[in-house]
Amino acid sequence: MKKTILKFICSLTAILFVVSAGALAVLPDEKDAPEAPLTVNTLTVDEENTLLGSTLDPIVEEALDTKQTLRFNENGKLKILVFSDLQEEEPIKASTLEYMNKMLDEQKPDLVLFTGDNHCGRIKTKDAMKRYIAQMAEPMESRQIPWAQVYGNHVEGGYNYEIPCGVTKAEQQKIFESFEYNVSKAGTVSGQGNYVIPVLRSDSDEIGYNVFCLDSHDYMYKYNGHKYGDGFEQEAIVGQIYGGNKYDVIHFDQIKWYWDTSVALEKYNGKAIPAMMMFHIPLYEMTYITENREQTGFEGVMNEAVGSPEINSGLFWALYERGDVKTIINGHCHINTCQGTYMGVTMAYSGSIGGVEYGHDSEETRGVRILEIDEDDAYNIETYMILFKNLK
Ligand SMILES: [Fe+2]
Repeated sequence: MKKTILKFICSLTAILFVVSAGALAVLPDEKDAPEAPLTVNTLTVDEENTLLGSTLDPIVEEALDTKQTLRFNENGKLKILVFSDLQEEEPIKASTLEYMNKMLDEQKPDLVLFTGDNHCGRIKTKDAMKRYIAQMAEPMESRQIPWAQVYGNHVEGGYNYEIPCGVTKAEQQKIFESFEYNVSKAGTVSGQGNYVIPVLRSDSDEIGYNVFCLDSHDYMYKYNGHKYGDGFEQEAIVGQIYGGNKYDVIHFDQIKWYWDTSVALEKYNGKAIPAMMMFHIPLYEMTYITENREQTGFEGVMNEAVGSPEINSGLFWALYERGDVKTIINGHCHINTCQGTYMGVTMAYSGSIGGVEYGHDSEETRGVRILEIDEDDAYNIETYMILFKNLK
């Protein structure tokens, strides 16, 4: 019996050897091999128009399916106004709304962006949330100005999540999208509100500029079932080294979505498209600006430390290598308005507009960020703060 088994194993080994050798023998030689695929900025696009497994056409279709068409004006200019960290309870203070209305009348932007922490995170009922978002929307809706938002770290709960919010982020997104001039989208990757706003040129339907919006999520402690204050940040292995582990990061699927969308739109457009990006929590690389002020052209006010994640999840390198995004706009640190340029990418805070949370009494930071873009020079945009105290 033992001999029979041994014979069987020997035969099987021999068969496997012959099959493997045969397989090796039929491998295509150089001249039969498929042509090398087209390479776009080091990532590979094959003949089926796919990039890392994505199909490009639906990405273009999704990106161009916008409720309002954004276009550079007849002079080839686009003005974006950024409202950051409104972060109030319902109802929004009358004085805050008055500031917002005055700012829109004075600046007359073509697009309004909210960088997140749009409310305090403690609004309990869907009706109250609807009322709040309607109050927030009114200044743009009444003026027929397209607007969009991303989410911050105060979305589904109070500061310590001690008072839960009664409305999920996905439900909040649906309420935002119900407004005629709101051009945000839920998106298909981690979080809510991952989308691109393409801006067409003044003289054709070519895309002249892209505004990428991402969800920077909230806290790391939410992983593995932890709760705020249960010590996860301190006790996790990463938390035991300098830097801690507090804020969440932009996830890999979001970075991949950005890359795929950027490549797909470039192929559709026939040329590269200059772009900016907006999300709430600044990247770790913001620290390189605040720590190297002379080299990065630092300007503006910095009244609190950079509240970034300590983990670098790779977004900065992705957009640097891709080469289209030259401006990143953040909120989060209410009393910072500073900006600077690192490796050709300008990163800028936007202060805050809220009339309740910290920063509401800071005359040197309470205001809005303006971005002025010329369609013929859209990699070099102009960005600066307008403070509420300087309103006419
Ligand atoms: Fe905030």
